[in-house]
Amino acid sequence: MFISFEGIDGSGKSVQARLCVDYLAARYKTVHCFDPGHTVIGNAVRKILLNREHSEMNARTELLLYAAARSQLVTQVILPVLKEGGIVVSDRFYDSTTAYQGYGRELPLDLIRQLNRIGAHELIPDLTFIIDTDPETAAARIGDADRLESESAAFKIRVRDGYRRIAEQEPERCRLIDGNRNIEEIHTDIRNIIDRKLVQIPGKHT
Ligand SMILES: Nc1ncnc2c1ncn2[C@@H]1O[C@H](COP(=O)(O)OP(=O)(O)OP(=O)(O)O)[C@@H](O)[C@H]1O
Ligand SMILES: [Mg+2]
Repeated sequence: MFISFEGIDGSGKSVQARLCVDYLAARYKTVHCFDPGHTVIGNAVRKILLNREHSEMNARTELLLYAAARSQLVTQVILPVLKEGGIVVSDRFYDSTTAYQGYGRELPLDLIRQLNRIGAHELIPDLTFIIDTDPETAAARIGDADRLESESAAFKIRVRDGYRRIAEQEPERCRLIDGNRNIEEIHTDIRNIIDRKLVQIPGKHT
């Protein structure tokens, strides 16, 4: 089983992914990974993406770099674990590209879908949790100083709305989780959904 966690910055993805990994690791071989990152090549690409000196980077270059990092993560980490019957929990995956580069930066969504398939080697998560948190609440959690700046606020709203559209379009895979609640309540919801999914997967029912 392959599970991804999605949501705007500060929505609570990483906290929930960690709790999910702790829950699953007691029963299954579980690998926790990060997109972009996790591999040597992925981390090198992540450094290029996060370098504040790279202000000249255009939106398509950014798009291709995310896809490149993901391709390496899929072949080097995710597919081998899934082949062995393990579970992979990824902090972000291609829905981040659709939400940020597609809805946020407004690059053509049809091109992004194709690139997502290339970067993910056609792999599709079995379950994607979209942690839907109010942008103000999320910004306050991470002490984001520029949350009042209008351009970045508008961008965050587009990204959040984009995630909601993704959840509407693929309701079986993508579960919209109300991220404005406390950590335990959110985790309980996620655990229940995972338990129901595990029952459906042959060999995973214990
Ligand atoms: N439900 C919650 N209620 C209150 N605080 C939370 C909740 N979930 C996470 N936090 C706190 O908010 C901060 C951001 O959470 P987290 O790192 O999980 O977000 P994230 O979505 O992974 O953010 P980023 O995209 O920046 O990596 C952390 O300090 C975390 O402890
Ligand atoms: Mg995080």
